[in-house]
Amino acid sequence: MKYRVLLLNPDAKTNEIEFKELSSRGINMVTASNVEDACRLLREDGLIHVILTEWKLPQVPGDSTRTMSGSELFDKFKRIRFEVTIFLFTDAADLPYSSTGGDLSGYFYKGDHDYDDVVRKIRSEVINSKNRAPFFDKLLEYSRKSKDSWHTPGHSSGYSIKNSVWVRDFYEFFGANIFRADISVSVPMLDSLLHPTGVIKEAHELAARAFSARYSFFSTNGTSTANKILLQTLLQPGDAILLDRNCHKSVHYGTILSGAEPVYLSPSVNNRYGIFGPVPKKRIISTMDKAIAMGKKLKVMILTNSTYDGLIYDIADIVAEAHKRNVKVIVDEAWYGYARFHPHFYPCAMEAGADYATQSTHKTMSAFSQASMIHVNDPEFEDIEDFFMENFNMHTSTSPQYPMIASLDIARKQMVMEGYSLLSRCIELSETLKKNINSLGKFRVLELNDLISDEVKGDNIRLDPTKITIDVSATGFSSKEVEHYLLEKHNIQIEKTTFNTLTVLITIGATHSKLNRLFLALENIEKMSGTRRPKKHLTRNDFFLDLSPMKFMPRFSFYSDGEAIPLRDAEGRVATNMVTPYPPGIPLLVPGQIISRKVIEALNYYRDYHVEIHGLKEGRINVLSAEEEAKLEEYGYRIYDICES
Ligand SMILES: Cc1ncc(COP(=O)(O)O)c(C=O)c1O
Repeated sequence: MKYRVLLLNPDAKTNEIEFKELSSRGINMVTASNVEDACRLLREDGLIHVILTEWKLPQVPGDSTRTMSGSELFDKFKRIRFEVTIFLFTDAADLPYSSTGGDLSGYFYKGDHDYDDVVRKIRSEVINSKNRAPFFDKLLEYSRKSKDSWHTPGHSSGYSIKNSVWVRDFYEFFGANIFRADISVSVPMLDSLLHPTGVIKEAHELAARAFSARYSFFSTNGTSTANKILLQTLLQPGDAILLDRNCHKSVHYGTILSGAEPVYLSPSVNNRYGIFGPVPKKRIISTMDKAIAMGKKLKVMILTNSTYDGLIYDIADIVAEAHKRNVKVIVDEAWYGYARFHPHFYPCAMEAGADYATQSTHKTMSAFSQASMIHVNDPEFEDIEDFFMENFNMHTSTSPQYPMIASLDIARKQMVMEGYSLLSRCIELSETLKKNINSLGKFRVLELNDLISDEVKGDNIRLDPTKITIDVSATGFSSKEVEHYLLEKHNIQIEKTTFNTLTVLITIGATHSKLNRLFLALENIEKMSGTRRPKKHLTRNDFFLDLSPMKFMPRFSFYSDGEAIPLRDAEGRVATNMVTPYPPGIPLLVPGQIISRKVIEALNYYRDYHVEIHGLKEGRINVLSAEEEAKLEEYGYRIYDICES
């Protein structure tokens, strides 16, 4: 098994003896005798999974007067690589337990002279809690038994199609194993996602440990469903929820389902590039205080971190402010699930103290599409666990796809075993790609200060280097044209465009070859652009992302019949459904929102730009009728925006 153990002892001679003893028992070792070297090794060598350390080490080589010990030392290692297991391997028979900081996984007294015990514990730690995928292993075991199936699914391990003259190509394309692994819930040894007690429960427990949660759950219908499950669990009609208006539409749907009153936070907006950014920290706190002062039963806050464009909040600070006010925090980490596996991205929501996090494991790690996770750290979760499971059952199919569950198990194992190395590579690739693109002249990779607006400049916002946004305006081509050339001429599919930018994601599947192909393609497009005049940047007059005020509770607007009218005539009316340009997938209108002239203009701008718009049908939009508005008013379903922008 390819993993290494880092042995740390200030005394080089003893180190050598211990190194030999452990190596001779088959353990792959590296050693250091001071903190500086140990940290360097941890950063450089992603194969290190276990540290055996003395209680105290010199900080730098050749100076034994300055030392670091106990919790300070262990914390330092954990800040570089949280997933590394630390065992104390020491001459000290008495432990000053109070200062270990809770980061130790075990203790060995050198006076025992029992190297076999050390090796057994190391192997057990790496194999039992890291390098294992209990669900996938069981699925393999079951499919190898080649049992006759007398149960769903109807394709019966592929027998229904493998000899079909009409659809055999489907079988051949996917291969036999996907059909063998697509087994029904009638197989008890594979456990039940809806009531996990066996291998799925074990896989959940390993995920919780990996992602720093108390509990983790697999969601087989994406983070869209994960968000709805949480909102329905934590909110009841009459409660209030604080949510960023630029959140994913699943959060708006979840709010409608829960019956809670939304208190919207207005995001910062970068009109130059048509991008919604984080909500300013001050605005979050003042809106929370205002809602509470108004007597709203504010139970939950949900924020998106990172944003689609890779903007990262100073999340720990915001979570602390919410907790001071007894508000639970959900962080939608659809785009940030890997954050726990590299210090460049720390802290993830769980580490920052959030109560819940939802992650699209499939978006950024090696899971199949739709495979997501819900992580829980809420100290009061046990009180609502049954209700959570009830909501989980409400939203989850009774026939979840087993290969998808296996992919979550594997994605977790991969991140624990090699996430650090893979992410280090992503960061390196990002640097190279950025340098190469900027060397072209007409393409420019946007930096943090280009992406955020002045409103959030003092909020410690960071930029995720794995999400690269490129300004294409100097080429004279629109971003749609560049996207088209990349796809049709160079066979390159990018993540998304705005009017003058395109975004590419550097995932753990990125390679140098792909990176250089993208660079060559952009170079070619730059050459093609010849002497075209650069495109103007957007101004407030061209395009202005202005989210108009709310008028009625989304839930009751959503359940009104409404009437369809042309968008051009809709100014001042109230939407009954969401209207969402895609990408980026952030609704410009939610049910209950007043349709302003600016929103109509923005939607026209998107339409002229051939952006897909969900929620409009042949230029018509569904709005509340005058009678429906009067009824909602009479029933007391009027709401007002309290967030100042
Ligand atoms: C911020 C955010 N949350 C949730 C989702 C939904 O995720 P999924 O596609 O896993 O359902 C998305 C999808 O794009 C998203 O961007």
